[in-house]
Amino acid sequence: MAALLLLFLFLFASSALSQDSLIGVNIGTEVTDMPSPTQVVTLLKSQNINRVRLYDADRSMLLAFAHTGIQLIISVPNDQLLGISQSNATAANWVTRNVAAYYPATNITTIAVGSEVLTSLPNAAPVLVSALKYIQAALITANLDRQIKVSTPHASTIILDSFPPSQAFFNKTWDPVIVPLLEFLQSTGSPLMLNVYPYFDYVQSNGVIPLDYALFQPLQANKEAVDANTLLHYTNVFDAIVDAAYFAMSYLNFTNIPIVVTESGWPSKGDGPEHDATVENANTYNSNLIQHVINKTGTPKHPGVPVATYIYELYNEDTRPGPLSEKNWGLFHTNGTPVYTLRLAGAGAILANDTTNQTFCVAKERVDKKMLQAALDWACGPGKVDCSELMQGESCYEPDDVVAHSSYAFNAYYQKMGKASGSCDFKGVATVTTTDPSRGTCVFPGSAKSNQTLGHNTTALAPSANSTTSGCIPHHYHPHASSVNLTLLSLLLLIALVFL
Ligand SMILES: *[C@@H]1O[C@H](CO)[C@@H](O)[C@H](O)[C@H]1NC(C)=O
Ligand SMILES: *[C@@H]1O[C@H](CO)[C@@H](O)[C@H](O)[C@H]1NC(C)=O
Ligand SMILES: *[C@@H]1O[C@H](CO)[C@@H](O)[C@H](O)[C@H]1NC(C)=O
Ligand SMILES: *[C@@H]1O[C@H](CO)[C@@H](O)[C@H](O)[C@H]1NC(C)=O
Ligand SMILES: *[C@@H]1O[C@H](CO)[C@@H](O)[C@H](O)[C@H]1NC(C)=O
Ligand SMILES: *[C@@H]1O[C@H](CO)[C@@H](O)[C@H](O)[C@H]1NC(C)=O
Ligand SMILES: *[C@@H]1O[C@H](CO)[C@@H](O)[C@H](O)[C@H]1NC(C)=O
Ligand SMILES: *[C@@H]1O[C@H](CO)[C@@H](O)[C@H](O)[C@H]1NC(C)=O
Ligand SMILES: *[C@@H]1O[C@H](CO)[C@@H](O)[C@H](O)[C@H]1NC(C)=O
Ligand SMILES: *[C@@H]1O[C@H](CO)[C@@H](O)[C@H](O)[C@H]1NC(C)=O
Ligand SMILES: *[C@@H]1O[C@H](CO)[C@@H](O)[C@H](O)[C@H]1NC(C)=O
Repeated sequence: MAALLLLFLFLFASSALSQDSLIGVNIGTEVTDMPSPTQVVTLLKSQNINRVRLYDADRSMLLAFAHTGIQLIISVPNDQLLGISQSNATAANWVTRNVAAYYPATNITTIAVGSEVLTSLPNAAPVLVSALKYIQAALITANLDRQIKVSTPHASTIILDSFPPSQAFFNKTWDPVIVPLLEFLQSTGSPLMLNVYPYFDYVQSNGVIPLDYALFQPLQANKEAVDANTLLHYTNVFDAIVDAAYFAMSYLNFTNIPIVVTESGWPSKGDGPEHDATVENANTYNSNLIQHVINKTGTPKHPGVPVATYIYELYNEDTRPGPLSEKNWGLFHTNGTPVYTLRLAGAGAILANDTTNQTFCVAKERVDKKMLQAALDWACGPGKVDCSELMQGESCYEPDDVVAHSSYAFNAYYQKMGKASGSCDFKGVATVTTTDPSRGTCVFPGSAKSNQTLGHNTTALAPSANSTTSGCIPHHYHPHASSVNLTLLSLLLLIALVFL
């Protein structure tokens, strides 16, 4: 049964996996129970994710990705950078072992050389471009240079004065690296790779950046940030950072290098001062980000120019050091269950389906309470819903308000009607959601929590007995403590622009 369902999901997902969605995921592996590569691929396929970035070139992962249609960015880890930058032969050997051995069955599209080298391994900065060139030379020798691009991901902190974006520039300390790097990217048709974290900009701004602006939520028109030089309107931090990168490149006379956002995300849990690392904010950020990217909205400077974006990250990494938030950037637990269900209705198939495939009916927020009460009365009366759980002392009595109670009753009716279309309307005050509204002991009908045996967990990936990590090398850096440092000047500008 479980196997059949899995197979079904697999086939179902494969058939929907046609369009290139521009959305990818990062797969960090600092995880106690890393799922097997096959399980990882099954999850990706069930979620229609067709772009992935790996922080290394793990053999079993590369094998598992063969014939999946998934496009891969693989990485030269920072600890191999020095060796590769010092010898053509080492680079050639790396390409032979980690690329040529798997391509084309495994669709490696890009090699990321190092990770945030300028900010996390500055001593290696002088050899970064040589490493890229040696890898490129090896690809040419292997006749793979047209299919596979070479680049290197940067922290967006290397761009200074990000607001207004039109005044942004690369930290001049790094010009001796950035200029030859941009020349290389331009001559090979490769993208600038950037890690973009509005979360850190928001946290470090001490309240200057409004949360809604970081989360892509609608702002009042008079609160939108306007770049006084270009008169471009910025409705979110993400676009401002990406445009800052375009402007920083054009300041150096590079105007035709595309940008790929290699990391972006929001943590769903934190402690101490990490008040805004919540499931709600993480869901809002990632849902809005994905919609924004899939829409091909582009940025104010380059509207309609798609910016492929890799969500940080697929799994929560429980063994990462640092504050609690560091372990909670994932969309999924390692057993394959979602940490939260993204709100992506209408965004196409990608990530739109919770692996448990549940839908619920709930009361809309901000609707007329009298209409809700009338609909609640109807559901528990003529609608013949069992509303006994809503009685005082029963598990769904609290919170005792009409929104919570009608959500329970509407959902019970919707489930009773087999989720038939039209059974979640109630004169417009109800809506379908993929987020399980159950809380505590109040379990909503249709919730997987009410039925552990029915197989809702069939797509959950059992923790693997074998880990894919070698366990000792830090596979990637995530130097969150030093994200974009909006300087005092840009903060003041932001205050002026946002609040005037
Ligand atoms: C890899 O993916 C790209 C983008 O979908 C596609 O154009 C290319 O043909 C694929 N290459 C291989 C070898 O499958
Ligand atoms: C490295 O190899 C490429 C071609 O494979 C060659 O063009 C380049 O000159 C070599 N560089 C060195 C330093 O040997
Ligand atoms: C520019 O980069 C250098 C080297 O990492 C760093 O010391 C300096 O603080 C940076 N400048 C700014 C304004 O952040
Ligand atoms: C960019 O091009 C302009 C005009 O050709 C030139 O004046 C300027 O010096 C160039 N800037 C850089 C950094 O090369
Ligand atoms: C995406 O585009 C649709 C229609 O084109 C629009 O309604 C929606 O607001 C857009 N979403 C985002 C996040 O830009
Ligand atoms: C689940 O995905 C299918 C296509 O893969 C889509 O038609 C359906 O609307 C999605 N369900 C939800 C609740 O988003
Ligand atoms: C998921 O739900 C949709 C809509 O209710 C249904 O068409 C589809 O068959 C379900 N998929 C699975 C695997 O249960
Ligand atoms: C799925 O399995 C996990 C543990 O493996 C469990 O915590 C969770 O409650 C299960 N979910 C459902 C919907 O049964
Ligand atoms: C739980 O599953 C059993 C069959 O496995 C089914 O008969 C029962 O109605 C389910 N209970 C709920 C609350 O859905
Ligand atoms: C994987 O697990 C099997 C059985 O548990 C064991 O025999 C094998 O040595 C493990 N492989 C690795 C690489 O740990
Ligand atoms: C940002 O830069 C300023 C000045 O360069 C420095 O005083 C401040 O500590 C930095 N803030 C962060 C969070 O790095």
